[in-house]
Amino acid sequence: MKVLFACTELYPLLKTGGLADVATALPTALHTEGHDVRRLLPAFAALQAGVEIDGPALTLTGPGGPALLGKLQPAPRLLLGRLIATNEQLYLLDAPALFHRPGGPYLDPDGREWADNAERFALLSWAAAWLAAGGDPAWQPDVLHAHDWHTGLAPLYLALSGDQPRPPTVFTVHNLAYQGLFPLQTAQRLGLPPSVLQITGAEFHGQLSFMKAGLQYAQAITTVSPRYAVEITTPEQGCGLDGVLRERQGQLHGILNGVDYAVWNPATDPRIEHRYDASHLEGKARNKSALQQQFGLRARSDALVFGVVSRLSEQKGLHLLPEVLDELVQRGGQLVVQGTGDPSLVEALQQAADRHPGQVGLHFVYDEPTAHRIIAGSDVLLVPSRYEPCGLTQLYAMGYGTLPLVHAVGGLADTVTDASLEYLDDGSASGFVFHGFNSAAMAQAVRRAFALQRRPADWTAVQRNAMALRFDWQHAAQAYATLFTTLMPPAPAT
Ligand code: ADP
Ligand code: GLC
Repeated sequence: MKVLFACTELYPLLKTGGLADVATALPTALHTEGHDVRRLLPAFAALQAGVEIDGPALTLTGPGGPALLGKLQPAPRLLLGRLIATNEQLYLLDAPALFHRPGGPYLDPDGREWADNAERFALLSWAAAWLAAGGDPAWQPDVLHAHDWHTGLAPLYLALSGDQPRPPTVFTVHNLAYQGLFPLQTAQRLGLPPSVLQITGAEFHGQLSFMKAGLQYAQAITTVSPRYAVEITTPEQGCGLDGVLRERQGQLHGILNGVDYAVWNPATDPRIEHRYDASHLEGKARNKSALQQQFGLRARSDALVFGVVSRLSEQKGLHLLPEVLDELVQRGGQLVVQGTGDPSLVEALQQAADRHPGQVGLHFVYDEPTAHRIIAGSDVLLVPSRYEPCGLTQLYAMGYGTLPLVHAVGGLADTVTDASLEYLDDGSASGFVFHGFNSAAMAQAVRRAFALQRRPADWTAVQRNAMALRFDWQHAAQAYATLFTTLMPPAPAT
């Protein structure tokens, strides 16, 4: 099966969050299953640096599509190349005026949305639809798999692209809260006719919604955990789109993300100082001392070290943290935080840290090697998210014998089992889970972590349970492939 995988990030070249990890691992796992997958991404400079262009450039031609298609100089093209690291083929959407800029893929250097994001990601979506409709005569996809709002218009453009048979589209929601909302008038510039700007189409409360377009026009919708697939059909977690999702419930599937064990494995990880596995946990203790040293914490082997590696956004629930920090330190804990984002959270964490010199280390940066060291060197990884479509860091943590402490929501609820007596007893305990999104519930889970620390044999048993869990990308890839197959037109009768 030929799969066109349209997205905006790719680990390790360009990453703002878990989407980049998925965009690297899932297509590779589909390859291993025997499928021919090509990614399509904007030709951001960081991506181009990891790609060798070795195919003919395809000029994007109408009809239809965003008005800027005919205006951009030089004219936008698709470059066919290979990822240098893996030799996998991919397309890059080359439109330097849109994608060669300082700052991030979505935000300018001051952290504001690029003013022309509608045009930028409409063009990406349109290019995906163009390829799916047969734009590259040498490679005709059997299915278009689009990811998050940036490619949400792709299923819509494909639906508008004429009467010829078109491949089915699958739209994966990694985060329903980021929707790509623009004034309705933008639609005209993007080549979208009024007929699709209805409540049954891409219109959302008087605006154009890229996310809603994806949800309405794709043949199937997936999201990244079974629990989140249910949650987003409720008003509490549906971000205003729960009605649409309820209507499409028959085509909505939750497929849990996996872990790329080539990148996240304590026995082979080149970014940590001491490698270890479930039978040799001494290495983990040495990583803990190295982490304490790196973050200027007191060198105490008995301190329970709580780590955070996260975007600092409302989603991640870290504003609960300052409220539990005093108790955490009083009980003998230490805290290490690495994250970037919301300045008010940065300030709140900084103030809380100032109360506890030598017990709290903060690193307001994005840094991959240190992320590995925190996940290896902490005893507990805190992921108290308000909502969490899947969450990857809790999965990485479990593989490193670092027990996740999570709010029971989305993928966190699907993957972590609380160290309560019944789950200690049946060998399924793998972390600490709190119910109810408030600091009192989180503080109770923190107390459970200290209680388990006083039972070292139980602690080690839970670590080994967690380390034995496998969140395999092959498993997820098979689920996607099965879904793709169900969408294929039946083979013509002979
Ligand atoms: P989300 O995509 O919502 O941010 P995930 O848990 O799915 O959450 O993925 C986050 C990814 O980003 C993980 O690979 C995590 O290690 C990484 N990450 C987040 N913040 C940082 C940071 N400050 N430094 C390094 N890596 C980070
Ligand atoms: C989003 C979600 C996160 C998920 C990631 C990859 O960023 O916030 O929960 O793990 O996408 O699917």
